[in-house]
Amino acid sequence: MLTFEDESVQPGIPLAKNALPKNHYPDADSQMQPVPQTQARVVSAGEEKLDQTIAGSANRRVSVEDKQIINCSADVNQLVPFKYKWAWDKYLAACANHWMPQEISMSRDIVLWRDPNGLTEDERRLVKRNLGFFVTADSLAANNIVLGTYRHITNPECRQYLLRQAFEEAIHTHAYQYIVESLGLDEGEIFNAYHEVQSIRDKDEFLIPFIDTLTNPHFKTGTPEADQDLLKSLIVFACIMEGLFFYVGFTQILALGRQNKMMGAAEQYQYILRDESMHCNFGIDVINQIKMENPHLWTKAFREEISELMRKAVALEYRYAEDTMPRGVLGMNAPMFKEYLRYIANRRCQQIGLDTLYEDAHNPFPWMSEMIDLKKEKNFFETRVTEYQTGGVLSWE
Ligand SMILES: [Fe+2]
Ligand SMILES: [Fe+2]
Repeated sequence: MLTFEDESVQPGIPLAKNALPKNHYPDADSQMQPVPQTQARVVSAGEEKLDQTIAGSANRRVSVEDKQIINCSADVNQLVPFKYKWAWDKYLAACANHWMPQEISMSRDIVLWRDPNGLTEDERRLVKRNLGFFVTADSLAANNIVLGTYRHITNPECRQYLLRQAFEEAIHTHAYQYIVESLGLDEGEIFNAYHEVQSIRDKDEFLIPFIDTLTNPHFKTGTPEADQDLLKSLIVFACIMEGLFFYVGFTQILALGRQNKMMGAAEQYQYILRDESMHCNFGIDVINQIKMENPHLWTKAFREEISELMRKAVALEYRYAEDTMPRGVLGMNAPMFKEYLRYIANRRCQQIGLDTLYEDAHNPFPWMSEMIDLKKEKNFFETRVTEYQTGGVLSWE
């Protein structure tokens, strides 16, 4: 399987910048060049906070008022007292929703895929382009959390959720790999699609600079400019990557499932969609909390910049829809997705307190809302959730 180290041997591919190969960003221990004394010890904001908080709080208990999402000087090792109960509740809900890809049978999908008359050429293209985006997207997401976001969020209950979210991203990558392997697809073709398929590459190249901001060890929060950079990257990650760039792909595979095709893959995607809607909602809660605690960051210029990014993202995702569906397929076509993406973008803007961008955008796929609204999907999910909840309880009998 492709790793981020592997990318570094492919010259001239800008995506490799996010790979963080060894010594990509020199640190104090590995840097051979002499550096001025003032720069000799490069300390990330997270490390600095850790040093400060352990030393500074040795004789003081953490109180709720001390806690902040960013730039917090309270001890990040003390989970309680809770300040952001919503973060802890989402952590508990995410754990209760645990699932693993191998639990879902792919046997019907394999039969259908091998049958020369099982799927049309357009349906096969759609599946391959779809996986071509997702097989690497969740690795980007995981790296963004583990190497970036986690360090800059200085609150233990939010970090607890981020740890769970990072594991879910690993499960999603596992699920996509499991589908590719089950169907016997060309792994080289699918895992390299983000280098080789322009519509996928364009989406990732849009995201990479924002991920790089957070994963750069030299980046630290604490100034209005840096805090705006952090907030911008969080918005791009939650509202655009997880909240918009996944939706053409999710809709396509779930539409196949609604026609009794690729049912195993569709079930995997349904679990992933459930996780991703929680990731998106958690990100939006974090964004709104940072806004509340740091209202000076939410300037007019900043809001305009975010709106512009959102418009650009809609255009990129629409191009991806056109590329995956050059003709109508499964009762859907690319123009329907234009409307859908506008509808979703409006919703994301509202969720973070921005004006909507597109007038009268409506949802052409109301069934997707039902998929996302899990209360209506109780029967589908109940069994497995109960199994995990029961399995996790210790018995002393
Ligand atoms: Fe994911
Ligand atoms: Fe996610």
